[in-house]
Amino acid sequence: MTIESVKPTTPGSPELRVPPLAGGGVPLLGHGWRLARDPLAFMSRLSAHGDVVRIKLGPKTVYAVTHPDLTGALALSPDYIIAGPLWESLEGLLGKEGVATANGPLHRRQRRTIQPAFRLDAIPAYGPIMEEETHALTERWKSGETIDCTSESFRIAVRVAARCLLRGQYMDERAERLCIALASVFQGMYHRMVVPLGPLYKLPLPANREFNRALADLHLLVDEIIAERRSSGQRPDDLLTALLEAKDDNGDPIGEQEIHDQVVAILTPGSETIASTIMSLLLILADHPEQADKVCAEVDAVTCGKPVAFEHVRRLTHTNNVVMEAMRLLPAVWILTRRAVADTELGGYRIPAGADIVYSPYAIQRDPRSYERHLEFDPDRWHPQRSKDIPKYAMRPFGVGNRKCPSDHFSMALLTLVTAVLAGSFRFEQVPGSDDATRVGITLHPKQLLLKPLPR
Ligand code: HEM
Repeated sequence: MTIESVKPTTPGSPELRVPPLAGGGVPLLGHGWRLARDPLAFMSRLSAHGDVVRIKLGPKTVYAVTHPDLTGALALSPDYIIAGPLWESLEGLLGKEGVATANGPLHRRQRRTIQPAFRLDAIPAYGPIMEEETHALTERWKSGETIDCTSESFRIAVRVAARCLLRGQYMDERAERLCIALASVFQGMYHRMVVPLGPLYKLPLPANREFNRALADLHLLVDEIIAERRSSGQRPDDLLTALLEAKDDNGDPIGEQEIHDQVVAILTPGSETIASTIMSLLLILADHPEQADKVCAEVDAVTCGKPVAFEHVRRLTHTNNVVMEAMRLLPAVWILTRRAVADTELGGYRIPAGADIVYSPYAIQRDPRSYERHLEFDPDRWHPQRSKDIPKYAMRPFGVGNRKCPSDHFSMALLTLVTAVLAGSFRFEQVPGSDDATRVGITLHPKQLLLKPLPR
């Protein structure tokens, strides 16, 4: 099926079908307990029931999209907006006025403000910071010592995003605080999304207190960053200056709350997704030494023995394919939601106004209908000769359409550089106590990866 072949039908017309109900629901809870118990397996099995299926979360009906073409149609259609359980849970973190949760004209205006900082031609200016932070990792890591990949990956992700986009100096103490706050906040948000116990989250229990403390510290940090820039009187050409000088549709300066929410909305998804992907890449380098050796060989050939630099990234094509394949099998953003704003249709199925729609890049990117040997880690599938056979929307780790991640070029450049530098410097082994099971939260990453770097 292609989007073009999805027959446009008038919403409400009798030709539209009601999506089939997924199997395995139980009275009262519906599919909620299956989703909570093993969300990745649950989402991956839904395609057996149809291209669009209904799932019951308690009394509520949610529509799951399982066909890649229809995820493209969903993301590109004006009938759906950013809303639903994922975004409602994120609003507590990202605020209601940030680019990731806004809709309509507010969202369009905000995208116009932030977009220049992420344009392809803006990325080389971030090269020196990306290089410095990546090489700093290999200097910190001592051969034979145990590396806690979670904190190290967060550290570089936060520092690069903050230094490139907000031009802050971000001493270790502030980056550390940001990492700790973000880790607790994302964990708490995920619980609130999958187990919506409402008022129970307001009780003064230790977990709720920790969550509230972390959230407060995150907002305090952002206030500090903004206040520091204002008091410095400096106006570097960066994203923070663009936000501080942004105007609303009437030409008036945007409000303090919007500036704050925008910084949170950019810094937090940026850090969590990059950190999760670096953790997955480290796991792959440890588990697939033959792939790490291939990356190392490419690095040697491209750099001719010089330290890996940003200018080499363009020619590190195999390394780029390793990053792509890691993002295919372990996409940081594994679930996305939308809400229908009108009675509409998707793939010939009736979708009522107000319906929540969900789809999983994890399930789509592992679907055997789209990929040969779908569970095998095979970076060569991204060779242009082979990748042309992969369906158009079967690999969209950065999303599609007007909500597509603004940071796709930034992220790919950074992740390719990090992979090249790390694989070129060390071999990695897991150490006892390391737990490489996939941890499902708002993003996916290995649970508690502990690695020993060994000299090359
Ligand atoms: C591996 C890295 C990353 C991945 C896989 C990723 C993935 C995504 C995806 C899938 C979306 C679209 C959500 C949707 O369609 O509903 C998104 C949106 C977004 N991402 Fe990323 N992202 C990454 C890195 C970053 C970074 C580094 C930043 C900022 C520094 C960032 C900022 C944003 C923002 C602001 C949005 C909201 C865009 C909008 O709604 O207009 N992301 N990201």
